[in-house]
Amino acid sequence: MNKEGTVRVAIIFLLGNLLTSVSSIIIPDPGPLVNATVGAVWPKPKFQTATGNYFLIDPKKFNILATGIICDILEQAISRYTKIIRDTVYSRLYHAHLVRHGSTTIKILASLRVNLTSPCEQRPHLSMDESYSLATNGTIIAHSVWGALRALETFSQLVTPHENQMLHVEDIYIHDEPRFPHRGLLVDTSRHYISKSILLTILDGMTYNKFNVFHWHIVDDQSFPYVSKEFPELSKKGAFRPDMVYTQEDVAEIIEYGRVRGIRVIPEFDVPGHTRSWGESHPEILTECQGEYEGHLGPMNPTKSATYKFVDELFREVHEVFPDQYIHIGGDEVSFECWRSSKEIIDFMVQNNIPSFPSLQRIFMERVTRSIMSLNNTPIVWQEAMVRDVRMPPETVVQVWLGDWRFLLSTFTRGGHRALLSECWYLDHVQRGGDWEKYYRCEPLDFSGTEKQKKLVLGGEGCMWGEAVNDHNILPRIFPRASAIAERLWSTQDTKDEKEAKRRLEEHVCRMNLRGVPAQPANGPGIC
Ligand SMILES: *[C@@H]1O[C@H](CO)[C@@H](O)[C@H](O)[C@H]1NC(C)=O
Ligand SMILES: *[C@@H]1O[C@H](CO)[C@@H](O)[C@H](O)[C@H]1NC(C)=O
Ligand SMILES: *[C@@H]1O[C@H](CO)[C@@H](O)[C@H](O)[C@H]1NC(C)=O
Repeated sequence: MNKEGTVRVAIIFLLGNLLTSVSSIIIPDPGPLVNATVGAVWPKPKFQTATGNYFLIDPKKFNILATGIICDILEQAISRYTKIIRDTVYSRLYHAHLVRHGSTTIKILASLRVNLTSPCEQRPHLSMDESYSLATNGTIIAHSVWGALRALETFSQLVTPHENQMLHVEDIYIHDEPRFPHRGLLVDTSRHYISKSILLTILDGMTYNKFNVFHWHIVDDQSFPYVSKEFPELSKKGAFRPDMVYTQEDVAEIIEYGRVRGIRVIPEFDVPGHTRSWGESHPEILTECQGEYEGHLGPMNPTKSATYKFVDELFREVHEVFPDQYIHIGGDEVSFECWRSSKEIIDFMVQNNIPSFPSLQRIFMERVTRSIMSLNNTPIVWQEAMVRDVRMPPETVVQVWLGDWRFLLSTFTRGGHRALLSECWYLDHVQRGGDWEKYYRCEPLDFSGTEKQKKLVLGGEGCMWGEAVNDHNILPRIFPRASAIAERLWSTQDTKDEKEAKRRLEEHVCRMNLRGVPAQPANGPGIC
């Protein structure tokens, strides 16, 4: 920095001090900046009505009974939520509210009955039914086990501590269902390795926010932590360290942990770009750059049949390991510079009359898509795989992440494609404060299009890219900022009163903290 720069910095510094001292003349009132709600639900239910009365719960005696159909998913949920509800007595948020008024006769709620009316589905899926009704005088009715899970989460959030080690729940009736079927969180485990135990806690946090898709961006340029059965050398050479990997057992545990919570695990193996770590063991499938980039490996080499054979075999394994219908195959940010520098690529393009690099990428994506679909999987791709292309199969779901998302959603849905929004939900874009309002304000249907087009928006995903997060900070960076996205995707379109949301989110952070999710403060000075 030159001298002039130093002087300028000094002036800015002085000015900064001056401004701080001016603003600190206003002395804040003691106490939290935002008063938390007491027993309010996040994300906000579709319909709720309260009588003004309340029930008390004796945590030592309270139980949850299945009166309808029962299965392993429901049994496990009942034991999880029984514990969560009992542990609510340890919350430190509500001391100021322990004594309540407004009820004439106080009844004890001894048990909650869960009436599941249809046989359990084994696995969560895109069109699962998550609706439920809940009367806190004692009954949950759900037509699918997924609705029963969401109902138990809601009930647990309504419960707050009372005097004498008792719990309190308002007499309330709720009917609820999500607005969008795909409410996801992307977690990148390539830029930093994230331990399995942290991933499981992320799934806990997702459950408390009614997210239903864990988009696992499992590998990328920087590392390949997935231990393949077919190609173990990929992680042996491509992981950051031999112990920074996800074994088949780890992956199975994460999928099962999600399954019983109604969370789908969708893996992403991004091709043909973002694959540099694959080249540590399989350089032959990547493009050898030439000229200016001599000695570097670029995106996959789309001219070789060996590349397709390898990708096909890996995706066949992915198809077997990850039970979800959908597989994310990436398709973003392919570096054309390396392809441009390669004589092999240019010769191939001339011989095959391929006019441009986007066309070459399109040929690659089409080829991979066909093989995914022959396995009965449906591909999800990032927007670039689609932008210059009308020939992707109509089933393909496109994820919008960059640029004018309103225009892009409008374009893709006009072309009949189903779409996911992420552009406004990048969790790695950090600003000051609680930093969630910007996510809350993004409305996925705020683009021009017909009703039919709007129906093609399946929902969206918060994206936790991994460059600046590791085991130590990923959880507080995701929560509660992603909670704003969860409510936008679950609650009705007119749920946008930020003042009201602030108070509920203040409580929700305390709740997540109590349950072992280290969510950061939502709004500034507060009790949690
Ligand atoms: C929070 O509640 C307390 C007690 O009811 C009240 O005195 C205070 O003004 C409230 N603070 C805010 C910011 O609403
Ligand atoms: C469960 O709900 C169904 C449908 O509302 C109802 O017909 C049935 O009687 C209920 N069962 C119990 C045990 O409450
Ligand atoms: C429980 O609440 C529901 C919904 O408010 C109501 O229809 C029902 O009559 C109540 N049941 C009892 C036993 O009070």
